[in-house]
Amino acid sequence: MKKVLIIISAAVWMFSCGKKDPNSPGVEFMPDMYRSPSLDYYGEHEIDGERYFNAKLPVKGTVARGVYAYPYPDTPEGYELAGQFLKNPLPAEMREQWEKEGEVLYGKFCIHCHGPTGAGDGKVAAKLPGPPPAYNGPLKNLPEGKIFHSITYGKNSMGPHGSLLTADERWKLVYYVQKLQGPKETAAPADSTKKTSK
Ligand code: HEC
Repeated sequence: MKKVLIIISAAVWMFSCGKKDPNSPGVEFMPDMYRSPSLDYYGEHEIDGERYFNAKLPVKGTVARGVYAYPYPDTPEGYELAGQFLKNPLPAEMREQWEKEGEVLYGKFCIHCHGPTGAGDGKVAAKLPGPPPAYNGPLKNLPEGKIFHSITYGKNSMGPHGSLLTADERWKLVYYVQKLQGPKETAAPADSTKKTSK
């Protein structure tokens, strides 16, 4: 019995916090668990006394995978040009799959403002200076290029999502927003892709 007590009190003493420094974690059983030997992404490291940042700028003239050059500026003219010329690069034959993936993204990034059916009645919408217009109302005929442009740069109280979502993710969202818009009022030629039954 005595032996057990001695072992327990020795263990308590070994693992108890040091009194000298109240912030000290005491004895670290496996320091690797707390202090990873690998480099932290946005940290600094030292080689031969020189300090380096771990996050580096991309090599000049290169573009990261999944990033497309976006030629339309964040101006009213850029918005109009995008509406006229920008088309969804994700093939329309797989529309149903893009819509499904877009719906998941919508649930994470958009639903709290735009609401589950895109009516502009999300939980946060009432707190905005003006709630978002309904996709199947005033935004019914908004072309895909403008949808993409507004998701990328934001619009008034809607923040920009260009750095939060890859271009492909934004295009999937465009498909899903179009699903919520419902059929366009004017029979534009682009509507021929809407043959798929829903
Ligand atoms: C902070 C709330 C908020 C979030 C989050 C948000 N929106 Fe919006 N959105 C708005 C508001 C408000 C407007 C109306 C902007 C205006 O015209 O003044 C709007 C407008 C739009 C429009 C119409 C743009 C145009 O050109 O008229 C589209 C399309 C849209 N949002 C899609 C999305 C998508 C997709 C997401 C998710 C990635 C999203 N929004 C996230 C608040 C939000």
